[in-house]
Amino acid sequence: MATTMGRLDSANLNGGQKLAVKYFLVAGILFGAQILFGLISGLQYLMPELLYGVLDFSVNRMVHINALVVWLLYGFLGSVYWMLEEESQHEVVGLKLGNLIFWVLTSAVTVVVLVYLLVQVGPGNQTSLWLINEGREYIEAPRWADIGIVVSVLVFFYNVATTFSKGRYTGIAGVLVLDLLALFGLYLAGMFYTPNISVDQYWWWWVIHLWVEATWEVMVACIMAYGLMKVLGVRRKIVETWLYIEVALMFGSGILGLGHHYFWIGTPEYWFTIGGLFSALEPVPLVAMVVHAVFDAGARHAKNSNHPTMAWLIAHAFGNFFGAGVWGFMHTLPQINLYTHGTQWSASHGHLAFFGAYATIIIAFFYLAAQRWRGGVWMSGELPGNGWKWKWALGLLNLGMIGMTVALLISGYEQSQIERAIEGSSWIGYFAAQAHPWFIQGMWWREAFGVMFALGFVLLVWDLLTIGKGETRAQQAIAAE
Ligand code: HEM
Ligand code: HEM
Ligand SMILES: [Fe+2]
Repeated sequence: MATTMGRLDSANLNGGQKLAVKYFLVAGILFGAQILFGLISGLQYLMPELLYGVLDFSVNRMVHINALVVWLLYGFLGSVYWMLEEESQHEVVGLKLGNLIFWVLTSAVTVVVLVYLLVQVGPGNQTSLWLINEGREYIEAPRWADIGIVVSVLVFFYNVATTFSKGRYTGIAGVLVLDLLALFGLYLAGMFYTPNISVDQYWWWWVIHLWVEATWEVMVACIMAYGLMKVLGVRRKIVETWLYIEVALMFGSGILGLGHHYFWIGTPEYWFTIGGLFSALEPVPLVAMVVHAVFDAGARHAKNSNHPTMAWLIAHAFGNFFGAGVWGFMHTLPQINLYTHGTQWSASHGHLAFFGAYATIIIAFFYLAAQRWRGGVWMSGELPGNGWKWKWALGLLNLGMIGMTVALLISGYEQSQIERAIEGSSWIGYFAAQAHPWFIQGMWWREAFGVMFALGFVLLVWDLLTIGKGETRAQQAIAAE
């Protein structure tokens, strides 16, 4: 492969990687949209009349969290296409179809977002379900788009599974293919229609919980395994052994951990015990993942071929452990969840977990892509100007997120105390809690740290577009597999 050092040139990429960077670009744009709509919804907490009737809170919140889910999925698709040819040592099978599907999917996403923004008031009937909104939080896309997503995903699955089976079928490949099957199969559980809200929620959690606490975790474990081999040169045997252990633990606890969402939706009481017990075990694999990443980095004396990627991989290991493991554990026992359910505790955990576990590792891959796209340039420290941009982006994004998390937790504590403990979950209690100065102060701090996060994002984009520009040193060689 001819390389042009220091210039963004698609000749530096293999077929799968060319497609991957398209996914990464759209992911980056949606990440930006997510932040923008998050800031607007946060501001509406403070000024409830802001944009009322023009861009309602319900719409902004929906765009915020749907953009999140979609950009993370784009990040995953991109990361898989990124590693596919190297991992399988075979050209991507059906690459043309894969490219076509990218455009189909991206056009569908654009139409769905426009409909979200322009048409959200109307009757709750079958037409709305098919064309406007399905009403399931995080996956609100209308039915026509759902079907389109399923078709796109089938093509993606075909590309990945056949490429691996025609090329080299590694341990990572085996886990990844089975995981993709489960990940996309689960999506179907959230598609069928029932007018009973308890039944609806029951199945909807099969998508949401079993995605983020089972199949996405396995997906990032595969991506992490590849990342550690690439950046640190860790031996395949080591990363694959860890991968099997982590996956076994993750499925062992994550599947029945589903029960922590079944406490108050009208399901039988045995879910208290099952959900409490198994979800309390969920942090265990996350500890294993931190130990794994830190151990490997230590064993290599942190000598690596890409500093920003390595930093974000470590941020992922810790973010996953704290956001999902610690912040999840805090409210997962039914005795505690009784007081915290649906308060800002949930939002505090939701923000830190999604960012810590998933946004971080995709950003790590953005940097891996930037390096290769510029012809495999040097990124092992001593960057021109001392690499201040990536370090500041890393600092602002992580501190902004930690600040938001703590602010939300303070508001959540106040809600548990006033609304639940003192006022006994009454309607009056709900409003007393929302009007309390501590709640409002928490909301202000969240917004302030949100702005810090947004600045970090701007710097991140600037850095990704410029890092390695005009660099003439080649990437540092690291020990091979
Ligand atoms: C990366 C993994 C995870 C992500 C991205 C994540 C994200 C979220 C989000 C966004 C919610 C709010 C859902 C809603 O809108 O109702 C939520 C709820 C919850 N999560 Fe997680 N979570 C993760 C892992 C965990 C783990 C490991 C635990 C337990 C140890 C946990 C415990 C909970 C509980 C108990 C709730 C319900 C909160 C309530 O009752 O309002 N989560 N999670
Ligand atoms: C940049 C600053 C951000 C601001 C100001 C912000 C603001 C908000 C607001 C106001 C909500 C609605 C909460 C509610 O209904 O009470 C929300 C929900 C949510 N946001 Fe953000 N957000 C930001 C960034 C992010 C990021 C970076 C992520 C993840 C990577 C994220 C993930 C979520 C999730 C998962 C929910 C749903 C939480 C739940 O239902 O409990 N947000 N955000
Ligand atoms: Fe869960």
